[in-house]
Amino acid sequence: MHQFHYVGNQLFCEGVGVESLVKKFGTPLYVYSQSTLADHFRKLDAAMAGVDHLVCFAMKSNSNLAVLRTLADLGSGFDIVSDGELHRVIKAGGDPRKCVFAGAGKTAAEIEFALQQNVYCFNAESEPELERINQVAARLRKIAPVSVRVNPNVEAKTHSKITTGTYEDKFGIAFEQIEGVYARAAKLKNLRLRGVQMHIGSQITESTPFEKAVKKMLPLVQKLNQRHALEFFSIGGGLGIVYQPALASGSPAWWTSAAAKNILTPEKYAARLLPLLQPLGLKILMEPGRFISGNAGILVTHVEYVKRTGRKNFVIVDAAMNDLIRPAFYEAYHEIVPLTRRARPTMSSDVVGGVCESGDYFCKDRPLPKFAAGEHLALMSAGAYGFVMASNYNSRPLTCEVLVDGKKFAVARERQAMKEIWSGEKVAPWQK
Ligand code: LLP
Repeated sequence: MHQFHYVGNQLFCEGVGVESLVKKFGTPLYVYSQSTLADHFRKLDAAMAGVDHLVCFAMKSNSNLAVLRTLADLGSGFDIVSDGELHRVIKAGGDPRKCVFAGAGKTAAEIEFALQQNVYCFNAESEPELERINQVAARLRKIAPVSVRVNPNVEAKTHSKITTGTYEDKFGIAFEQIEGVYARAAKLKNLRLRGVQMHIGSQITESTPFEKAVKKMLPLVQKLNQRHALEFFSIGGGLGIVYQPALASGSPAWWTSAAAKNILTPEKYAARLLPLLQPLGLKILMEPGRFISGNAGILVTHVEYVKRTGRKNFVIVDAAMNDLIRPAFYEAYHEIVPLTRRARPTMSSDVVGGVCESGDYFCKDRPLPKFAAGEHLALMSAGAYGFVMASNYNSRPLTCEVLVDGKKFAVARERQAMKEIWSGEKVAPWQK
């Protein structure tokens, strides 16, 4: 459930009219709902209460400091993938000791910084990485807590660019090699084998792939635990969300839509997984990103022009693929609704940005209300993998981000000043 809804004909985020935010901050504008973030965290946390567990928010999905602070205040840990993300956790008041450091390409400098900050665990993705962590730890006279990311070779039934747990993917170490890897790692003096990890993919909307992967992993986890006295098993992230609710069709009750009814809720997820996990007696870690942040954010944009060419109706807006790349990159669906609802005809439309690429679209041939130049639209469910994947392509400034809590709102990130786009760039001394 999320906190974006119509009050009368105006789209609100919690107790704040989105149009009033646009008046203050302009567009394109990301708007986040603090209570939605908190609600999603709490729901998952509560559903998993039957086991000792830690939710580590996958901050790659949304790393704004205000978002991180919201979750840190609720006791969340963080799944980090770079030293930049660890710096953000610290800056936001999160606890590095609740951070798991994932990613296949950790540099020696990143490992050193994470060790100094006493992260909870490094999720290693290769043997050379384990050796490197061991070397850096030895140099710092520390013992590095490690787990290995197991690739269970289970199909996640999601988009190919976000499937991660099959042998076609670059992630983790193959299931069959794991026991040998742990035996060798156990001999490295500056490592402590703390746990074992898996992650099969993202935007997974049914429980079967998770169940299959956990079932496959169980005997292995038990064996590793007997031999190496582990502390945790991380089942990764990947819980999917509803991207196609019913806001546009006029119903504010999006959760009554068929898609929402069938969605994998934390309760269903926990009901399937807890009976499998409880007998292990290990702490269970989860790394949800999208489930927490996805439906907690929208991207608001201004309609610059409407043009009809040939058979098409193009709605040209001031946000573009550099602000939200998911439709261009994954053919992802984001619901598009007007900030001000009114009775009007439906029209098959392409909503597109101003970037010079045909791939710069938010939807194609979608039946939408007949939008007019000058009005504002919201791209829904843009809280995960939205702003974090934004770029300065076409020298477009990064957008402003706002956090709403009830009737309060605050800038979570200033709109990037134009000159910051080229800050750090220089012409060469020989270029007069
Ligand atoms: N843990 C690991 C090791 C991951 O690689 C990921 C996501 C997560 C957790 C969090 O997954 P989530 O709960 O958010 O599904 N940019 C893509 C998604 C990329 C996901 C990468 N890994 C998108 O916009 O759909």
